[in-house]
Amino acid sequence: MNEAHPRYLWWNGQQVPWEEATVHVTELGWSTVGAVFEGIRAYWNAETGEAYVFRLDEHLERLLRSMRLVRLATRWNSSELSEAILQLLRVNECREDTYIQPIAYRTAGPKTLSGFSEEAGLYITTRPMPSHLLTGKVVRAKVSSWRRISDDVMPPRVKNISNYRNGQLAVMEAVLDGYDQAILLNSEGKVAEAPGACIMLVRAGKLITPDVTQSILESITRDTLLRLAREELGLPVEERAVDRTELYVADEVFLCGTAAEITVVGEIDHYVIGDGKPGAVTRALEQLYHDMVRGIDPRRPEWRTPVGLAPAARASRESD
Ligand SMILES: Cc1ncc(COP(=O)(O)O)c(C=O)c1O
Repeated sequence: MNEAHPRYLWWNGQQVPWEEATVHVTELGWSTVGAVFEGIRAYWNAETGEAYVFRLDEHLERLLRSMRLVRLATRWNSSELSEAILQLLRVNECREDTYIQPIAYRTAGPKTLSGFSEEAGLYITTRPMPSHLLTGKVVRAKVSSWRRISDDVMPPRVKNISNYRNGQLAVMEAVLDGYDQAILLNSEGKVAEAPGACIMLVRAGKLITPDVTQSILESITRDTLLRLAREELGLPVEERAVDRTELYVADEVFLCGTAAEITVVGEIDHYVIGDGKPGAVTRALEQLYHDMVRGIDPRRPEWRTPVGLAPAARASRESD
């Protein structure tokens, strides 16, 4: 796909040509204050000629959970949305690594603070997002002076768009201060996460990450890596409150998320982590994650939904 945008997006039940999917300018503002979204990846496998959506059901369940939490009603269920996404990937001929973003937003009602809407609008877009797995990418981070929103202020565990202003402030501060990335502490001063990714550290062969009550998003990549570490690599895993200084003395630190995938942190607040390069545990996890998401490793097929781009899948659809 060479266009700057896909041919179609999915909007309230229809595949709509990109140029025709417009709203009036006065819809901007309050409609997005209450919006929630998902970030999902499909990975291309050149060998099989197929793209696989990673943990699609879990992402859609989280979308519906996010909507419920911010009181956005919808008529769509998870399997209808799943089918909409697969059809959209096919009609857009996404033969590359792709990011899929459903956004649910408030529609009707007066443009006031009241957050209620009869039924949420919902659209889904796709766009190319090349993977950086196994490229050796390393970032420098700083612990932000901004604290991560806490559960008594906003709901950090879901993908509420307003939450992201918090992360944006932290990244802007980090970049202005000469770093690539920010790490936010929670209101208790414990490590929470990065603006769009969870954080994990390795110390003495143990994988450690903040538990889900530390003001973090309930991350699907985090869950994936914890399971792979425990079940495939046999690593001891700890989910608990993490001190800031544990980051400084860690052997390895990395960020994880759908977009972030696995991103190695080589330096935090000028403390070099390990030797500043991807460590052995991170590399083992990254190789495993890479092979699983792309369908090179055939285990856990329930994590990969084939889009139906492979010749055999197309032929069977056409004969139906
Ligand atoms: C704030 C935040 N934390 C963590 C993550 C990682 O979540 P997931 O692994 O489900 O993509 C994301 C999204 O990618 C995020 O936006």
